[in-house]
Amino acid sequence: MTDTATTLAEPDLALGIPISEIADGAMLVGQVKGEPVVLARRGHELFAFDAFCTHYGAPLADGLLVDDTVRCPWHHACFSLRTGEALRAPALNPVSCWRVEQRDGNAYVGEKVERSPPQLSSAGSAMPPSVVIVGGGAAGNAAAEMLRREGYSGGITMLSGDQSVPCDRPNLSKGYLAGVAPAESNPLRSPEFYREHRIDLRLNARVAAIDTAKHEVHLVDGTRESYNALLLATGAEPVRLDVPGSDLPHVHYLRTLADAHALVTKVPISQRAVVIGASFIGLEVTASLRARNIAVHVVAPDAVPMERILGREVGTFVRGLHERHGVTFHLGTTVTSIDEHGVTLKTGEHLEADFVVIGIGVRPNLSLAEEAGLAIDRGITVDEYLETSVPGIFAAGDIARWPDRLTGDRIRVEHWVVAERQGQTAARNILGRRDRFDAVPFFWTEQYDFSLAYVGHAERWDEAEINGQLDGEKHDCAITYSRGGKKLAVALVHRDFEGLLAEVEFERAMRGQLAR
Ligand SMILES: Cc1cc2nc3c(=O)[nH]c(=O)nc-3n(C[C@H](O)[C@H](O)[C@H](O)COP(=O)(O)OP(=O)(O)OC[C@H]3O[C@@H](n4cnc5c(N)ncnc54)[C@H](O)[C@@H]3O)c2cc1C
Ligand code: FES
Repeated sequence: MTDTATTLAEPDLALGIPISEIADGAMLVGQVKGEPVVLARRGHELFAFDAFCTHYGAPLADGLLVDDTVRCPWHHACFSLRTGEALRAPALNPVSCWRVEQRDGNAYVGEKVERSPPQLSSAGSAMPPSVVIVGGGAAGNAAAEMLRREGYSGGITMLSGDQSVPCDRPNLSKGYLAGVAPAESNPLRSPEFYREHRIDLRLNARVAAIDTAKHEVHLVDGTRESYNALLLATGAEPVRLDVPGSDLPHVHYLRTLADAHALVTKVPISQRAVVIGASFIGLEVTASLRARNIAVHVVAPDAVPMERILGREVGTFVRGLHERHGVTFHLGTTVTSIDEHGVTLKTGEHLEADFVVIGIGVRPNLSLAEEAGLAIDRGITVDEYLETSVPGIFAAGDIARWPDRLTGDRIRVEHWVVAERQGQTAARNILGRRDRFDAVPFFWTEQYDFSLAYVGHAERWDEAEINGQLDGEKHDCAITYSRGGKKLAVALVHRDFEGLLAEVEFERAMRGQLAR
């Protein structure tokens, strides 16, 4: 991702700037009292806001203005130009807005606008007195926060099977494992945040069953929790490899913060690792371990890594990228056993390893919903408002299969941003808002200096057209995935702005379908 960090050599916007210097739809970076600020123009209106995204700090001036919002170039968070509110995840915090005065053809940026806290309300027949959220991950956390942001004053209980507060899972295989992001970057919020917002977050609180007739969830420890509205956000779990030795202590999976801690602890005392699986998690882990100077062998049954999702050309490039960083691939084969010194392949070859990481996919946690009699179709079936077949029970994140207007299919994806946005939409609908879930799916991956953003959803495609260059010398391209001539998704390599344009194009296509 391009990081055009703003410097304070930028113009002082408090001193004024000719409005004619800002084209309609353009953004200009400046500073006010030493703070970097963006001045944006939409028609006759001017808006000023913080220069950096509250998610990972992308320069918002490299983003896109859409109506009265600004979209972040890196992971497509969306902020209101009028209030600074983070309208769409992955940013959870607002940006500050600054007062702008237009005088004598100039724009002057004044002080920061004070934000008023949400007006808490328990009024309205649609408001349930209490909401229980099962799951303390991306979707569960975003939902709990959104309930409060929407002014909900009733009880919120979040029951999480995790040992720690909701964490930034994408960071676990990338910055944190690579040693460039500190442990403090993992929690999404502090324990105080949940207390201050009266979100009763219970950790190690595993739900064993849902009694839909009595509106209760039964926890593994024998306690019960009543709900008026229920959100299921139980996410997914790594698929376990069933070979002799796969339960040895040096065999790791990566889903939770505890898993990441266990891996990070291994790094200083290890020199060699075997990674089983050549999809996103496996290859991100590989890149992070190489950053820590661990020798890595990757074993996978695929002929080309990530071919099914991204196509042969991108997959071949990714393989070459890792090989240039010293990784050895063993493709078209599988592991038949693991011992304390390494792994044995189907070919009989033995690979030495101090530890093994398995990343062979995930399986959505559906058993609670299944046993409670909710409609299931390779995921929990939800409608466009993310409500399940049982009224008052919603589902979001990796478990939810929803009607996607873009493809016309019911789809389920395993993406961070989608899970958070679904949590936000489900929260609004729990409060009776009737907010349709229509976000364009988005995910990203980072491996070494290579980053790819994927917009849309192409589970099956018959054409992948590459525009640009993707080889050892240059990574700069867009790959369009189509089926039957219909564009379904676009993967962008170091073309952030094009990714935003693709998102808007898909949104317009969806709106067009709604209008028909
Ligand atoms: C290491 C890693 C890196 C990733 N990187 C990316 C990335 O770069 N980009 C991207 O788009 N996606 C990425 N993903 C995927 C992304 O993290 C998931 O799609 C997202 O977390 C799904 O959110 P969720 O809320 O559905 O589930 P989760 O975040 O998995 O949360 C599920 C929660 O439910 C709880 N739970 C489960 N069962 C029960 C129960 N019975 N009782 C109580 N609680 C229960 C769990 O303990 C957990 O708290 C990554 C995932 C991992 C593991
Ligand atoms: S840095 Fe802005 S959305 Fe991630």
